[in-house]
Amino acid sequence: SILEKGILLGTPPVVTTNPNSLEEQAKKIMPKKGWEYIKGGAGEASTMDADRLAFRQWKIVPRVLTPTTPRDLSTTLFGERYDTPVLMAPIGVQSWYHDDKEIGTATACANLRVPFTLSTAASTNIEELVEKVPQGPKWFQLYWPLDEEITASILSRAKTNGFKVLVVTLDTWTLAWRPYDLDPASVPFIVGEGDEVGFNDPVFRRKFAERTDGETPEESKVQAGMYWCSEVFPGVSRSWEDLKILKKYWDGPIVLKGVLSVEDAKLAVQHGMDGVIVSTHGGRQLDGAVGSLDVLPDIADAVGDKITVMIDSGIRTGADVLKAVALGAKGVFLGRPVVYGLGIDGAAGAEAVIAGILADFDLTMGFSGAKTIGDIKRSLLKKVSYPG
Ligand code: FNR
Repeated sequence: SILEKGILLGTPPVVTTNPNSLEEQAKKIMPKKGWEYIKGGAGEASTMDADRLAFRQWKIVPRVLTPTTPRDLSTTLFGERYDTPVLMAPIGVQSWYHDDKEIGTATACANLRVPFTLSTAASTNIEELVEKVPQGPKWFQLYWPLDEEITASILSRAKTNGFKVLVVTLDTWTLAWRPYDLDPASVPFIVGEGDEVGFNDPVFRRKFAERTDGETPEESKVQAGMYWCSEVFPGVSRSWEDLKILKKYWDGPIVLKGVLSVEDAKLAVQHGMDGVIVSTHGGRQLDGAVGSLDVLPDIADAVGDKITVMIDSGIRTGADVLKAVALGAKGVFLGRPVVYGLGIDGAAGAEAVIAGILADFDLTMGFSGAKTIGDIKRSLLKKVSYPG
């Protein structure tokens, strides 16, 4: 059971069980470069604040004398049954946090049967990930290259290697104003370093060789990094019509990540998309934006009966997962906390964090009077207006 897998009945944890201490513990242990990169938000990080405040404004009104055992946390997404509505968000360059990198996080997810999303900016190649972690459900996140041939090649590799759902991130067509990367005090890194999915792509390699008289990305990292970034973060935004290109190369479900407006969610439906992830990218792109939970109920009301509405940004506890589900999310993605766990104790640390949040969610459901995911209704929540 989740409880047995979780930290409650396990050996004393290395990773703190206190969601408020996790970041501080990770800061002490994880490599400085990784810490500097993961902790920050765009601009003054006001979107990061909004993501958390949005969760704090909703409170659970629990029920008593409502039998909630045994509980069934299972749910179905795109025809696949999962044990819980919790998934792992795509997080790039995980070698910066721990040597276990994406293999550690994917192993943790597979052990708990939580879908793992591999980033286009991963430090683990598609083929290597699947070879080392063949078990467990896997989704693939695309940073969409300008070059259609490179796009087709990456998508075909993801498909061949068994990735089921395509997540297309739309809020990062260029990198944002990120003081933690731009400041003189930030830890310098080579652009594109650790981008194994791109650097190992045969079409990308061929095109790079053509530009450089036969060099490989490994021989000329800086140039390869610049070329790769000019493809995936080109500073040119796409249009709704361009989604046709993706449909040409991906016949499975396609989910748009970074949708915060009801109008865009409706356009996603009109353009034949299968789902949206309501997301602020963890507050790392547009500073001054709404929190993702702030807009979730409106988006769920507008399109929730037509496509699969999911959420990330600011999920830290079991109560957060319950609130997101109550406000219309069919899937809830964890981000930074799992990577803090990875940074603290590798695969085991990532697993401890996910298991902890699942155990907490299970308890939260029980205390709230919910026996199944279907019982988690909006009427379980009350909106308050006091700060914190
Ligand atoms: C991200 N995120 C992200 N998203 C994506 O689509 N592709 C990526 O490669 C990355 N990389 C990445 C790196 C780091 C260090 C962070 C913190 C985030 C965004 C991620 O998928 C998700 O939207 C956020 O992490 C959600 O916010 P919280 O809950 O982690 O704060």
